[in-house]
Amino acid sequence: MSTSIGQPVERVDGSRKVTGAARYAAEIPLPGLVYAVLIGSRIPSGRITYIDTSQAERAVGVLAVLTHLNLGPVAEQQPPLMPSLGGGPAPGQTFFPMRDDVIHYPGQHIAVVVADTLERAQHAASLVDVTYAETPSITTIDQGRTQVYDAERIFGGMMPGRVTRGDVEAGLGQADVLVTATYRCAPNHQNPIETSATTAMWDGDLLTLWDGTQGPNATQLTVAAQLGVPLDQVRVIAQFVGGSFGSKAMIWDHPALAALAARHVGRPVRLMLDREQMFYSVGHREEQEQYLALGARSDGRLTAIRHHKLSPTSHFDDWAGISLACSATLYACANYESVYRLIRANTITPSFMRAPGEVEGMFALETAMDELAYELGMDPIELRLVNHADVDPESGNPWSSKGLKECYARGAELFGWAGRDPRPKARREGNLLIGSGMASAFYPVAPVFTPQRARARLYADGRAVVQASFSEFGTGVTTAMTQVAADGLGIVAGAVRLECGDTALPNTVAAVGSAGTAAFSAGVHAAVTALRGELVERAIADVKSPLHGVDPADVDVLDGCMMVRGRPEIGETYGELMRRNHLTDVEMVGSWSPPPPGGGYASATFGAQFAEVAVDQDLGSIRVRRMTGVFAPGRILNRRAAHSQLMGGMLWGIGHALLEATHMDAVQGRWANASLGDYLVPVNADAPDVQIDTVEVEDTVVNPLGVKGVGEIGLVGAGAAIANAVFHATGRRFHQIPITIDDLV
Ligand code: MOS
Repeated sequence: MSTSIGQPVERVDGSRKVTGAARYAAEIPLPGLVYAVLIGSRIPSGRITYIDTSQAERAVGVLAVLTHLNLGPVAEQQPPLMPSLGGGPAPGQTFFPMRDDVIHYPGQHIAVVVADTLERAQHAASLVDVTYAETPSITTIDQGRTQVYDAERIFGGMMPGRVTRGDVEAGLGQADVLVTATYRCAPNHQNPIETSATTAMWDGDLLTLWDGTQGPNATQLTVAAQLGVPLDQVRVIAQFVGGSFGSKAMIWDHPALAALAARHVGRPVRLMLDREQMFYSVGHREEQEQYLALGARSDGRLTAIRHHKLSPTSHFDDWAGISLACSATLYACANYESVYRLIRANTITPSFMRAPGEVEGMFALETAMDELAYELGMDPIELRLVNHADVDPESGNPWSSKGLKECYARGAELFGWAGRDPRPKARREGNLLIGSGMASAFYPVAPVFTPQRARARLYADGRAVVQASFSEFGTGVTTAMTQVAADGLGIVAGAVRLECGDTALPNTVAAVGSAGTAAFSAGVHAAVTALRGELVERAIADVKSPLHGVDPADVDVLDGCMMVRGRPEIGETYGELMRRNHLTDVEMVGSWSPPPPGGGYASATFGAQFAEVAVDQDLGSIRVRRMTGVFAPGRILNRRAAHSQLMGGMLWGIGHALLEATHMDAVQGRWANASLGDYLVPVNADAPDVQIDTVEVEDTVVNPLGVKGVGEIGLVGAGAAIANAVFHATGRRFHQIPITIDDLV
C-alpha cells in the first residue's frame, strides 16, 4: 500500500542545508587540519625543465611542496577507465599526474602545496618557480583535422565505435528527400556551486576521505586502486554534495593527491579546487562536430540515418560522450550507420556532463528532423509519429515501457501546438519575431551492474533507520528513499531517518546516468521488504500475537500496525510485538541484483519538448518565452523533487542552445573564459514559464518500483526545441550551438 511514494514530500535535509548545518567535503573540522593547493601546468604540451620549490618551502606556515620529484607511492598500474556505473574503480582518466615531467594537457597538476592556512598555501603556490619547454599542441578540432582516427571502442571500452544495420547507402538511395548537415557544439563545463573537494585523514594505515562525489564507493574503489591500498583501509564519507552535473561522476586525481599530501605531512589535509581549476581538472563536455544525413520517403518514413561524430579526446583514453546512441534507437529506420571519430588532443579526458552525448546528439537529430519536416511539408509531430519506433530498432526487442506518443499528445495540448502556422517569420509582435518549436526527448535507462544494498532497522518505539552508502548531491534522493522506506515498512515518512553518504554503510552504485535514485530505490525496497517480512513472520510465529498463525500474504501494515487485510481489529503494532519479545530493534540488510543487461527488453525514457521564443529583429537577442515538457520516466517517487529535476534540465536547455560555451584560446592552449563571470549560464531572469507534466507508464522490468529516472531527460531535446523555434521565428537555421546574438545580427 503506497501512502508516501509519489507524494511531494519536502526535503528531509532542507533545514540542515538552509541553516548551514549540512557539512560538505571542505567543511569538515578536524584537529590539526592543514590546507593543500594544487598547481596546474601553464602550458598544454611539453616538459617541465626546471621546478624550484625552495622559496615556497621557506614561506611561513608551509609544511610541504609535492612535485613529480617527491610525490610518494602511486600504484604502478593505474585502474582502467570505467564509467562509474560499472561498479569498479571509476577514474576520470587513466593518466595519473606528477609521476614524471611530461605535460599532456593544460592545467595538468604539477605540484601540491601544503600549509597551515589556505592563504599561506595559496601564497606559497605563487612562489613555486616552473620553467617549461613547450611543444606544439592540439586543443581544438580545427587544429586536429589531420590527426583523426576511427575509435574502435569508446566509453571505457563499453561502447563500439561503429554501429551499422541494414544498408545505409541503399537507404539514402531510396530516399525522396535528403537532409544533410554538419552540427557543431561548443565545449561546455559543469560548474556546480560546490567546487570539487576532498578532506583526507590517515589513522595509521586507515584512510578516511570526505569527498564531494556522486559515488562514495566509486571514490573508495578508485583511490584504493590509484594508491595501491587495500579496499578495506579506505573509507569515503560524502553525505552532502553541492551539485555536480557529472563533474563528480568520475574520480579524478585530487582525492588521491589529498591522501598523499596528508600522508606526507602526517596531518589531515583539506584540498578544494578553485573555480578556474574546475575548468581543467574534472572533465567537460567535449567540443564536437556531428555529420547527419537523413533520408525519407515523401510520406515521411525514414529510409536511412547516417550519424558521425568528431571530437577531441586525451592522449590516454578514447572518450566520447555517447552522442550517437539516440539516432540508433529513437526512430524506426532499417538502414543506419554511426561512427565515432576522435582526435588525439592536449586535453584532460573529457567526461560526463549532464546527459553526456545525448543532449548534443539530440540537438543534431532533432534539428535535422525539423529540417526534414519542412522539406516534406509535414507537421514535426506528425513526422515523428510516422517514424515512431514500436520496438527498439537496434535490438528488435520490445520496450520495457514507452509512453512517447502520449507525451507528444499531452505536450501539444498543454503548449497549444494545434493550428500553429508553420511558415517561418509568420508571427510578429512589433519588433519581435515569435516562433515555436518542438523536439523529442530520449535518454537510455542506464544498466546497473552491481547489487544494490541497504540496511533497515526498526526500533521498538516505531521509528526506523535506513542506511546505504550513496551521497545526496541535491536531487532529493534522501527524501525519496525515506518515502520508499516508509511505504515498504508501512510507517509514516516522518518515522524514518535516512543515513547515507558513507562507504561504511551498505554498497550502492554511483549516482550517474540518471540511474541513482532508481538503483538505490531497489536496494532500500529490498531492505525494508525483508524487514517487514521478518516482523510479520515473528508475529505469526508468536502464540501471544493476535496474528498468530495468519497467512503472511493476508497481513497489511499501516502506520506501524500489522493487521489482517480487511479485518483491522485483528492486529498489533510492531512495537507491541517487539516489547513483548524483548527486542530493542530488528534489522535486516536487503540486496537487489539487477537483471543482466539485454534480457529481452530495451529500456529508455521518452518525452516531448516545446519552446516558444521571441527574437528581437534589431538586437538579435533571443528570449525563451515559455517551455513545455512532458516526460514518461516511469514511477515518480517524489513529485516535487522530480518536478525540480525536470525543470532544471529544461532550463539548462536554454544554456545549451543559447549561452554555454567554453572558448579555447588555441594559441595559449588554455580556456579563455574559465570563470563564472565569463562562462554564461541561464539565470532566473532568463527563466521563462516552464510547464511540466508526466505521463504514467508502468515498467515492470527496470527495477522493483519501476523507476526510470528524471535526472537528465529534462535537458535532452530542450535545446533542439529552442533552436527549432528560432528557425520558425526567423527563418534562419543554425547548425551550431550556442546560437548567440552575434550569429543573429
Ligand atoms: Mo551524469 S552527467 O551521468 O553524472
